[in-house]
Amino acid sequence: MGLVIPFDDKASDPGLEALVALVAADMNRVNQTILARTGSDVAMIPEVATHLISSGGKRLRPMLTLATAALCGYQGEGHVKLAAAVEFMHTATLLHDDVVDQSEMRRGKLAARLLWGNEASVLVGDFLLGQAFRMMVEVGSLACLDVLSVAATVIAEGEVMQLSAAKDTETTEDAYLAVIRGKTAELFAAAAEVGPIVANRPKAEVAACRAYGMNLGVAFQLIDDALDYGGQAAKLGKNVGDDFREGKITLPVVLSFRRGNETERAFWKRVLEKGDIAEGDLETALATMKKHRALEDTVERARHYGSMARDALELFPDSAPRRALLEAVDFCIGRAH
Ligand code: IPE
Ligand code: IPE
Ligand code: MG
Ligand code: MG
Repeated sequence: MGLVIPFDDKASDPGLEALVALVAADMNRVNQTILARTGSDVAMIPEVATHLISSGGKRLRPMLTLATAALCGYQGEGHVKLAAAVEFMHTATLLHDDVVDQSEMRRGKLAARLLWGNEASVLVGDFLLGQAFRMMVEVGSLACLDVLSVAATVIAEGEVMQLSAAKDTETTEDAYLAVIRGKTAELFAAAAEVGPIVANRPKAEVAACRAYGMNLGVAFQLIDDALDYGGQAAKLGKNVGDDFREGKITLPVVLSFRRGNETERAFWKRVLEKGDIAEGDLETALATMKKHRALEDTVERARHYGSMARDALELFPDSAPRRALLEAVDFCIGRAH
């Protein structure tokens, strides 16, 4: 089932072509670095890591690092290792996240935890996180290390915050936003921020890139949460309805619960708080969301954050990197098709 949202964007299904083309040469080196750094004498480490890494992934976050470095005219080499470190941090959070969420599918394949177990997934995630920090140290920018190490802690905080909010239908939109800022947007922000930092650009440019990444990250997760109800598993590479089955309180649920009548609220409490899910409940959830325009409004919120991301780049003159970064905003919002 497709997301039932009327889109008025002129470009249908905007892609990431400009961004991919802009960073193609650098991204090649990032991918080589990634593969080299998954190596270990402990055979299970490269096995688990390569399973996930070779399954693809959009590589969106490292592209942000490469593109913001280009936006700032960076001429050095450090951005490649920083971008690889960013993707390793992301990969580590995916390995951990699928354990926490008990997910079965990731990047169109079985989640690593189903093939090697939860323990191996967590530990290989830790290995990748460690490798990420080694690469940051090699780059030698204490400021970048600061930004990315803060991100590592904030991501974990976001995930723990989400645990505390799980199954709680009283969760507010503000609490939800705090969770997604932490678990998702912080890494987008850090990825975009280390570009200007490694290029030694002034504070205003660093702040602008950070704001771009942060707002893009919020928009990205909002769309992801809408797609968890209205998307297609084949396109997403992960199962639809995971959030529902886990009792995860995302914005579509927050809005439907707030706007619901007594019967509808009792439904949400039964399925999400008690975890008492029967055949047909996901369909009921979708119908309730449709009635209250919960998915449309989630996408509307995402558009708003997308606009803020675009505005953050107003500081920079027109250039190929700036156009590519603007296109990435359209891509993140347009994923809802
Ligand atoms: C998945 O991120 C985790 C979320 C923040 C929703 P991506 O959708 O960027 O994952 P890959 O790297 O492309 O697989
Ligand atoms: C994504 O969380 C954020 C992190 C991986 C830290 P989700 O649980 O919402 O993402 P998916 O749906 O598993 O990709
Ligand atoms: Mg998950
Ligand atoms: Mg999700």
